[in-house]
Amino acid sequence: MKFFIDTANLAQIKEANDLGILDGVTTNPSLMAQVGVKGDEAIMNHYKAICEIVDGDVSAEVFSTDFDGMIAEGQKLAAIHPNIVVKVPMTKDGVKAIKWFSDNNIKTNCTLVFSAGQAILAAKAGANYVSPFIGRIDDSSWDGMQLIAQIANIYAIQGFKTEILAASIRNALHIVKAAEAGADVCTCPLDSILGLLKHPLTDIGLAKFIEDAKKTQA
Ligand code: E4P
Repeated sequence: MKFFIDTANLAQIKEANDLGILDGVTTNPSLMAQVGVKGDEAIMNHYKAICEIVDGDVSAEVFSTDFDGMIAEGQKLAAIHPNIVVKVPMTKDGVKAIKWFSDNNIKTNCTLVFSAGQAILAAKAGANYVSPFIGRIDDSSWDGMQLIAQIANIYAIQGFKTEILAASIRNALHIVKAAEAGADVCTCPLDSILGLLKHPLTDIGLAKFIEDAKKTQA
């Protein structure tokens, strides 16, 4: 399973990248707003800066909601760097745009996916990634992980090549469960990635090894 970081925060992207396990980045308009990026030029420069840190796919989301707008915006985003993946919402115009981008060799990530039906449409349109929003599904008392498993099963039966990108990850357990359910990629906040490191027995074990190591010194 590939690891993406789900943020537009350059310091956090660098910290995750320095771990050596990062395969890419996802952003969305809310994450861009959180880091205070404003205006077309600043947005383009920010994506460029992300691409300079991480050697992997970087999802950049279109703000437009109509087909023509998405195509124009997506082309501009894709021109920033070969690793840019144009993130397109799961709407009627979005599906048409994904098909257009796919026909024109521009990579896409279909976002805001909450059902298996939507995931089938994204794959049919030729999306490189489909992003089911696990956390938001769990927030409304449905089982987000069940959706990952269902999509993985359908894609395997049908031979769809679209990669399942588990999004809206809230904690380290979500990452483990997404891996188990068959996600190809998990996009996570830095805290959830670092949460995978934690186990009290590791801390206790290390403290004991350090203590005993001192006894071996002359
Ligand atoms: C990433 O591609 C998604 O936009 C993101 O994971 C959504 O996360 P949220 O539900 O925490 O906003």
